[in-house]
Amino acid sequence: MTTVRERLSGVVDRFGMGRLTTAVDRHGILGTARAAAHMVRDAAHQDETSTWFEVLLDQNRPRVAAAQGDLVLAADDDTFELFNAIGSQSAGVARDRRSAGGEPWVLLVDGKPAFCCWLYAGRSPINSMAGEWLHLPPAVRTLEDSITAPDFRGRGLAGGVWMALFDDLERQGVRSVVTNVLDTNVPSTKAVLKVGFAPVASMRYVRVGPWSRQYLTPLAAGSGPAIVADLHHRTHWRR
Ligand SMILES: CC(C)(COP(=O)(O)OP(=O)(O)OC[C@H]1O[C@@H](n2cnc3c(N)ncnc32)[C@H](O)[C@@H]1OP(=O)(O)O)[C@@H](O)C(=O)NCCC(=O)NCCS
Repeated sequence: MTTVRERLSGVVDRFGMGRLTTAVDRHGILGTARAAAHMVRDAAHQDETSTWFEVLLDQNRPRVAAAQGDLVLAADDDTFELFNAIGSQSAGVARDRRSAGGEPWVLLVDGKPAFCCWLYAGRSPINSMAGEWLHLPPAVRTLEDSITAPDFRGRGLAGGVWMALFDDLERQGVRSVVTNVLDTNVPSTKAVLKVGFAPVASMRYVRVGPWSRQYLTPLAAGSGPAIVADLHHRTHWRR
């Protein structure tokens, strides 16, 4: 695998010093830097594995400590700003995702934004493939973009909020919730296992420049086969 330094020197080589000065004359320093950044991005290679987990809501789920605070369903610009504060999406992206059917949840502890996450019904955005959606049966929800604010991590807040949301979904007749976690994300893997999630599919995501593709392997029944059927070999071009 090439290093970032090698890729950068490749970009400079491709420009050549003469071409570099011409480019700066023509596009300015900022414009040239932007073009170089795009070339580096397009040369970039990404290869990562993640696991799809599912929790069956009507099974004997482990009980964890309830999260103390106010759990709010964000519905206006002021609450969307809280996502920004926690380090999740900008208020604009949160508003767009809400319009697209997502449910944005925020936990306030002593008035401070401490945790946020999204629930989706029917379809949910695939973060690595902008504009692409995962489609699931009506009785399944997806849990996306869970973030605990750094000062609140390690206190079991994520699990406490998820458990409350799952109890509510179970009362509404929802059968299960699925979520995807990068295999390198140890805190997140530990947090989801604590509330009863189990692996149902393994996913490999490969990106070369603007082109990407997903490869899936089923690990268990439940929603595993549906996720595999929807995402396996799905390709995407970034614009
Ligand atoms: C994943 C995440 C939401 C878990 O939230 P949380 O409220 O801290 O959850 P928990 O308190 O149950 O902690 C889970 C694990 O995080 C780790 N952890 C504990 N304190 C931590 C700290 N201060 N900072 C980072 N990780 C910590 C521990 O491994 C812990 O597991 P353990 O309790 O079995 O030791 C949180 O770590 C986070 O926001 N991470 C960054 C965003 C992210 O990766 N989101 C998930 C996308 S799938």
